[in-house]
Amino acid sequence: MLTDKTIILGITGGIAAYKAADLASKLTQAGAKVEVVMTKSATEFISPLTFRSLTGRLVVTDMFEPASEFSIEHIALAEAADVVVIAPATANTIAKLAGGIADNILCCTVLATKAPVIVAPAMNVNMYQNSITQDNLAKLKARGFTIVGPEYGRLASGKVGLGRLAEIDKIIGTIKQVLDRNSDLSGKRIVVTAGGTQEPIDPVRHIGNRSSGKMGYAMAEAARDRGAEVKLVTAPTSLPEPAGMEVVHIKTAAEMKRAVAKAVAQADALIMAAAVADYQPKNVAKAKIKKKSPSLTLELIRTPDILAEVKGNFLKVGFAAESEDMVANAKQKLEKKKLDMIVANDITDKDSAFGSDTNKVTLISRDGKIDNLPLLTKREVADRILDKVVGLLKG
Ligand code: CTP
Repeated sequence: MLTDKTIILGITGGIAAYKAADLASKLTQAGAKVEVVMTKSATEFISPLTFRSLTGRLVVTDMFEPASEFSIEHIALAEAADVVVIAPATANTIAKLAGGIADNILCCTVLATKAPVIVAPAMNVNMYQNSITQDNLAKLKARGFTIVGPEYGRLASGKVGLGRLAEIDKIIGTIKQVLDRNSDLSGKRIVVTAGGTQEPIDPVRHIGNRSSGKMGYAMAEAARDRGAEVKLVTAPTSLPEPAGMEVVHIKTAAEMKRAVAKAVAQADALIMAAAVADYQPKNVAKAKIKKKSPSLTLELIRTPDILAEVKGNFLKVGFAAESEDMVANAKQKLEKKKLDMIVANDITDKDSAFGSDTNKVTLISRDGKIDNLPLLTKREVADRILDKVVGLLKG
């Protein structure tokens, strides 16, 4: 699996940098083209010559090279990469990546790549546990980076704690897993819906809901990163438009229904993460409603049930936000809407709050299998859902 894969091995300045030699050697022996990129401080811990000898390739460092030359080289490298692995990753590098700071050759390379990025932190236990580092790692995870380790053990400071670089074999296992995942949806067409629909009352008001769209956008981005051709049908959100996919903007449930019906032609899967309004005002006032009377009654009528009504031969995945009897209610929806899988979450659980970057969900498949996932970032949840989708598509 590693044969002929281009792996950028980023090495940053920590004592565990010497362990990267073993990683470079093992990856090279497995047939990968290992392109080593070292920060200046990494070169203080271990010589670039070591990596040049182990990989048989030139090593890119922050030293001595004129910006104009290496700036072209690192872009070409970034584009050629199948995966980028940063091992060891110091707290400083993690902070730079989380903040989008590209003041060294490695961070520039990471910003310029579309390949998946694996980060293997190694640092002092207090630095690792500091909430700043934890926030930065959470940001990277939310953007789709894979974090491996650190592990518990004796650290360079003499202390014992969490902070040791993950075992090299574990890092290699993660690289294989990420490479495998990276293309497991290639050639597949996936339609994702996101956000909360808005049903107009008059020209300035609407009925809406608290959906942030984050789960749906994370789904669409994860599917894209795994090689799928993605169409995202989205209700208004405050999120930036994701790159590398077709994005259709709609407002109402009726508009979403039309857009979905069009998008699913030849689709392999429909993932309905949108929070679709169940009711819409029966009449939409043409002019702004003035506050004349002390009370106002709006008559509401049902919106179409998009997921239940959509036609076609593709996998259907629904979401169920429940405040009571989560599993039983979600199962009922799975049956009623003829779904292959439903992703249920308990909205009374603070971990599943609207707008948050994390989610705690239960996956229920048609065959009755129930998977309770732990609290994860929405991007991680998206990947776990897609792991199932890949399996179902194969079946
Ligand atoms: N859904 C849909 N069209 C609707 C309502 C919901 O396609 N008009 C989809 C949602 O996108 C979600 C799934 O159906 O994937 C379940 O949505 P949910 O709101 O939990 O269920 P409802 O069917 O609306 O039932 P209820 O609100 O009574 O729980």
